[in-house]
Formats: sequence, structure tokens, C-alpha cells
Amino acid sequence: MWILKYRPSSLNDFVDQKEAIEKFKNWYNNWKPKSKAALLYGKPGTGKTCFVEAFAKDNNLELVQMNASDFRTEKAIEKVFGSAANVKSIFKKSKIFLIDEIDGLAGKEDVGGVKAIIDIIKSSQYPIVLTANDIYDPKLKQLREFCLEIEFKPLKFWDVKKKLKEICNKENISFEEKIIEEIAKKNEGDLRASINDLEIIACGKNKIIEDDLKILSERDREMEIFNALNILFKTTSLTGARTSFINVDLDTDTLFLWIYENIPNEYEKPEEINKAYEYLAKADLFRARIVFRNYWKLMRYMNDLMTIGVSLAKKEVYKKFTKFSFPSVLRKLSLTKKEREKELVKLKELSEKLNCSTQKIRKEYLPYLKFL
Ligand SMILES: Nc1ncnc2c1ncn2[C@@H]1O[C@H](COP(=O)(O)OP(=O)(O)O)[C@@H](O)[C@H]1O
Ligand SMILES: [Mg+2]
Repeated sequence: MWILKYRPSSLNDFVDQKEAIEKFKNWYNNWKPKSKAALLYGKPGTGKTCFVEAFAKDNNLELVQMNASDFRTEKAIEKVFGSAANVKSIFKKSKIFLIDEIDGLAGKEDVGGVKAIIDIIKSSQYPIVLTANDIYDPKLKQLREFCLEIEFKPLKFWDVKKKLKEICNKENISFEEKIIEEIAKKNEGDLRASINDLEIIACGKNKIIEDDLKILSERDREMEIFNALNILFKTTSLTGARTSFINVDLDTDTLFLWIYENIPNEYEKPEEINKAYEYLAKADLFRARIVFRNYWKLMRYMNDLMTIGVSLAKKEVYKKFTKFSFPSVLRKLSLTKKEREKELVKLKELSEKLNCSTQKIRKEYLPYLKFL
């Protein structure tokens, strides 16, 4: 991945954030035991984590790092930090601690976690750095009293552009200025997302043009559906289920197929899968009634059955990450699109000659013609 390949290995490769760096260095140079911790906060992809890594490397510090969300209990945090914070470094280097993404700790079951971090800040023999996207969660209020807050602002448009160009040059990819600008603009100062977008568009090519941006909008749409499915399957509220697809720009029939495909990816208990498909079958019944009677008022029943019905089929929420898949029916249809078009032309010719519908020919004549 390019975000790893081009991760700054030294502060020389680090762009922007001059104010934050200044404040950080000042804090570090004056740090002594019982001083405050540094709390780097700001939107994702603004360099909080990689700054600490590069700083440690440049200053020959041993970096002791953990992601807060990996260790949700007081015990786990103490295991990693409690001992390390007081024991002298084996390599005789000085140390610096990084507890990444502490907003992941803010859930109510983690109250112990916050307290443990405060205890470590109070007793550590080495400087401690925390990072967070959002520090205004009330659960972090107490912790903030023990921190010097340092803001990482969204990166400047020009800096993102410069970095993206630099990567293109290193990868020997020629580019239209406009495409780089669009990527930078779209991601609003998030360099991680910008580099990821560039990689998706440019990987394996030696030239990118403005037209390639379409790839991103297709991917965004897929992400939207994944998010919506995630809400649908995980929510326990009726309104949540009913509105889960509100931001997805697809017709009801296509959404139906997405749900149809992914029920067994999410649900594991046979009785849940059974119940979910039963509701979906009822939704399908309403779809048929809508078509036959041209009675669109029934649409809301179809919608509710396929969202609320499927959502309530679960006994409890699965705490897992589900990889959703693209509807196989749609995939098959798109693979056979050319053949089906050819077939339709022939069917229409026959339909004129035989004086009956293409549907009838397909069902009743074609099998015999094939046989003959
Ligand atoms: N200021 C920056 N200078 C150079 N690269 C950066 C900067 N900010 C982000 N990046 C790039 O984006 C990626 C993600 O940065 P990261 O430090 O993980 O962001 P954060 O921790 O703020 O979410 C890094 O691998 C790096 O390639
Ligand atoms: Mg980070």
C-alpha cells in the first residue's frame, strides 16, 4: 500500500503542521516526570501517528506503541505500559510512549481504561503521547486535564497536491494536473484518503487522466451500500432499519438484491436466516402486486418488509465485521449482457413472423427449436 510505502521515515518527509510540531518539540524538550502528556488531536489522515513515529526515529527514541482500542481494560493497558514506563530501556535509548486513538476508549465499559492512562501519565518516567480524532467526548474530559492539547489541522490543499505529485513521479506515472487537484479537493486535507484514492486510480498504470475519477465515484457508491447494509443488519431500532438506505441512490429492486445476497453473510443461525428470507419473500409478493395492479401505494409495505423485517430477524446483534458481497444475480446479468442482447434481436425477428410475444417464444418455442 502506498500509504505505507510513502509513510515519512523522518520529519524531513513530513509536510505541513508547522505550528503543531513547534508546540510538540517545546513540550518534549521541557518534559520531566509528572509533566502533562501530549494529546495530538485532529481529523484522520493528518499525520498524528506518523509524526510521532518519525519524531522517535529522528531522535533515536524507542517507541512503545499501542492502539487504545486493542486494550479496553485497565489490566491490559497496565500490562503494556505499567511496567515499561518504569523500567529502563534495554537498548539504553530513551523512550517515548504512544497510545493511539484514545477516542476508541470512550465507551462506557472503558472507564477503567481512562483511569489507567491517567495513572500512567502521573507516574511515567518517560513522555507519553496520546492521539484522538475527537477530544470533545465527555468521557475524555477528566483525561484532558492531564494533557497538553496539540491540534493537527487538515493539511493544506497545496501540500496534499505536492505529496501526490511526488508519489506519481516516483512511480513513473504521468498525470493531468486536474486529476490530482480533484483528489486533493475531495478529501479535504486528509492525506491518507488522498493517497489511497490515487493508488486505486493509478495502480498498474503509467498515465492517469481526468476520466479515471469515475472509478472513485463507483467505489464511493459501493461504500455507501456497505454502510447501509451494516446499519440494516446491526440496528435494533425500527426507524434505524427503515431509514438505513436513505442515503443510497439505488432503486428498490436493486437494494432488494443486495439484501437478498447478504443475509447469509451476516446471520449465522438457520432460524434467523429463515425468518429474514420469509420477510423478503413477503416483500417480493408486494413487489409483484405493485407491478400487476400498478398500485404504488403498496411500495411502503415492500420497503418495510425488506428493511425492518430483515433487520428484526436476528435475535441479537453479531459483533463481527461482515464482508458484504455484490449481488450474484446482477453479476451474472452483466456477464451475459451481450448474449442476451443478441438473443433479444433474434426473438424479436421470430415474434414478428410467428405473431406472438417474445416471452412466449422464449418459454414455449425456443426449447423445441434448440432440440430440433
Ligand atoms: N503531514 C504529513 N506529512 C507526510 N505524510 C503524511 C502527513 N499526514 C499524513 N500523511 C500520510 O498519510 C498516512 C496516514 O497518516 P497517519 O499519521 O496515520 O494519520 P492519522 O494518525 O492522523 O490518522 C501516512 O502513512 C502518510 O503517508
Ligand atoms: Mg493514526
